[in-house]
Amino acid sequence: MKKIKIMFVCHGNICRSPAAEFIMKMLVSEKGLQHMFEIASSATSGEEIHLGRGNPVYPPMRRELSKHGIDCGDKRAVRLRSDDYDKYDLFIGMDSANIKNMLYIFDGDRKGKISKLLDYTSSKGDVADPWYTGVFDRAVNDIFRGCEALLSHLTK
Ligand code: 4NP
Repeated sequence: MKKIKIMFVCHGNICRSPAAEFIMKMLVSEKGLQHMFEIASSATSGEEIHLGRGNPVYPPMRRELSKHGIDCGDKRAVRLRSDDYDKYDLFIGMDSANIKNMLYIFDGDRKGKISKLLDYTSSKGDVADPWYTGVFDRAVNDIFRGCEALLSHLTK
């Protein structure tokens, strides 16, 4: 069976989209569905990538995820590329700005692959951005709800 390839996307790829990547990997492995998915994350900006090397996951987010038994390993920020469009099935943004920037990077969404994480839930809206609020548990809670809803959508 062909794997469903999911790319989570945010601005910097050091907070929200890596959290989504590793939360989704955990939910998938809890259900023993690793064979069904390939999961990655990337940034719409180059803000967290310097001289070609991406920054690691932001320490406060790393700590918040570790409370849930999640380890991000040596994940480092990478930038979303226009040629990723044909390599993944789904591009899942955390907020509306991520969607707008993806549409720019991909010059549209000709195969309807782009969506926003909380659109899979009943509450919709944007994932709370901890970069500006410093509130990491709310973002992680949003991302858990979004990933749970996404996984049930993809496995129903
Ligand atoms: P992320 O958080 O998009 O969730 O990784 C941010 C990281 C960096 C910046 C903004 C948000 N920044 O402006 O550098």
